[in-house]
Amino acid sequence: MPSRSYRDDFAVADLGLASAGRRAILLAEHEMPGLMALRTEMGPRQPLAGVRITGFLHLTVQTAVLVETLIALGAQVRWAGSHQDSAQDDAAAALAAGPHRVPVFGWKGQSRRELWSSAGSALAWPDGRGPDLLLDDGAGMTLLLHHGVAREKGEDPSPYGVGLPAEALALIDEFREKDPAFWSRTAAAVRGVSEETTTGAHYLHQLADAGALLFPAISVNDSVTKSKFDNRYGCRHSLIDGLNRATDALIGGKLAIVCGYGDVGKGCADALRAQGARVVVTEIDPICALQAAMDGYQVSVLDRFLEEANIVVTTTGGPGVVTAAHLARMRHQAIVGNMGHFDAEIDVTGLEQAGIATRVPVKPQVDEWVFPDGHSVIVLSEGRLLNLGNATGHPSFVMSTSFSNQVLAQIELNSRDRPIGVSTLPKLLDERVARLHLAHLGAELTTLTQEQSRRQGIPVAGPYKPDHYRY
Ligand SMILES: NC(=O)c1ccc[n+]([C@@H]2O[C@H](COP(=O)([O-])OP(=O)(O)OC[C@H]3O[C@@H](n4cnc5c(N)ncnc54)[C@H](O)[C@@H]3O)[C@@H](O)[C@H]2O)c1
Repeated sequence: MPSRSYRDDFAVADLGLASAGRRAILLAEHEMPGLMALRTEMGPRQPLAGVRITGFLHLTVQTAVLVETLIALGAQVRWAGSHQDSAQDDAAAALAAGPHRVPVFGWKGQSRRELWSSAGSALAWPDGRGPDLLLDDGAGMTLLLHHGVAREKGEDPSPYGVGLPAEALALIDEFREKDPAFWSRTAAAVRGVSEETTTGAHYLHQLADAGALLFPAISVNDSVTKSKFDNRYGCRHSLIDGLNRATDALIGGKLAIVCGYGDVGKGCADALRAQGARVVVTEIDPICALQAAMDGYQVSVLDRFLEEANIVVTTTGGPGVVTAAHLARMRHQAIVGNMGHFDAEIDVTGLEQAGIATRVPVKPQVDEWVFPDGHSVIVLSEGRLLNLGNATGHPSFVMSTSFSNQVLAQIELNSRDRPIGVSTLPKLLDERVARLHLAHLGAELTTLTQEQSRRQGIPVAGPYKPDHYRY
């Protein structure tokens, strides 16, 4: 049972892990040159002085470096982890016990109720005023506020087209009972949100299209130095890390199916092929399907290869990609894991509800589901993100690119009043994030001459590409 203290305004697994966490944070700082450069460059100016930020994002070592960067730029921060199994308890303890005594809420192995209760703790500032800015993952905190406001007004939030789990709705009602205006007051004070991931950005656009978005949003995911790096190169690293820690099954020579060939799917397929797996890709989008084919993958449908596959990885961002019926048809000890949407891609709940298989826990985050004929499939992280449940998420360097965008987005949201809508960071800032990471890899950039700049119409200092350029 985790030791935690709501009285002391934090809830972590074990404060005794703080010094190990601090050591890991110090090592990560070296691998996060973007965040450290922003501290050095902007620290003296304090662009986030006094700003209250509530964060809802995986509580990892890399997030700890992000949190302490926001604080170094003047912010006050409360934080909750956004995934039941992704917290690195040492990092959370180091934040809670560290020099800033960050109010941090989350531990590995939370129940869904505990996860949403932690989100509530991060949102409810002790003086009742709530945050100025949100830093969100999967739009979890944003949706909580939107549904809270809708429930207070007696409106049906379903027009947003995005639901929340029962545990989150229970939290909304719990807060309403104590303070009937909590959600409206808190949402009205929020000046903006920066969103980390593809699915969250998609939800924000749905809210904006429905005319329901309550505050300005910056989709950090749509910075090139986020989605084309974290989603691709991060997953290329952390998929294999998760598979190895979970099962240690040899990947080389096996048949792996990757569902979806977007940014995450490209990284996953790349990683599996590099291990020597034969990779089949499934896609709904002809452009991505053609990309996969021209990258040398077999593009087919799940049904055709289901019985043969040794490994199935979902990366689509959509629900019900691998159904309970699919799981039942897979070969003995096929490994099934999700790298895409939090928990909707693989229908583990359906398997449970249909009662067609028995769950045999192998170790934390690894379950064998045994069917009546004796064959079984190995499901990782109960269908939630396996790279965070079975491993420790992306490595520091790639998270430095994502989180540098987060810091710049928070500064942008704080520095000007923006219209309500979903925007992205300007290209110049995107290029700046990349620039901050080149030296660490020993990369040298060529500088345009004045003559080249004039003839091509490209400024020497950038931006180098128009906004519509796709990379
Ligand atoms: N695990 C992680 O660390 C991590 C990191 C970044 C993003 N994500 C999440 O991964 C998901 C994918 O992100 P992305 O940036 O690759 O998005 P993307 O939109 O670039 O790619 C998703 C791809 O899946 C395809 N697709 C959709 N439904 C499909 C189906 N039923 N069958 C086959 N293909 C289908 C789409 O056409 C698209 O090409 C999102 O939910 C995102 O939030 C996870």
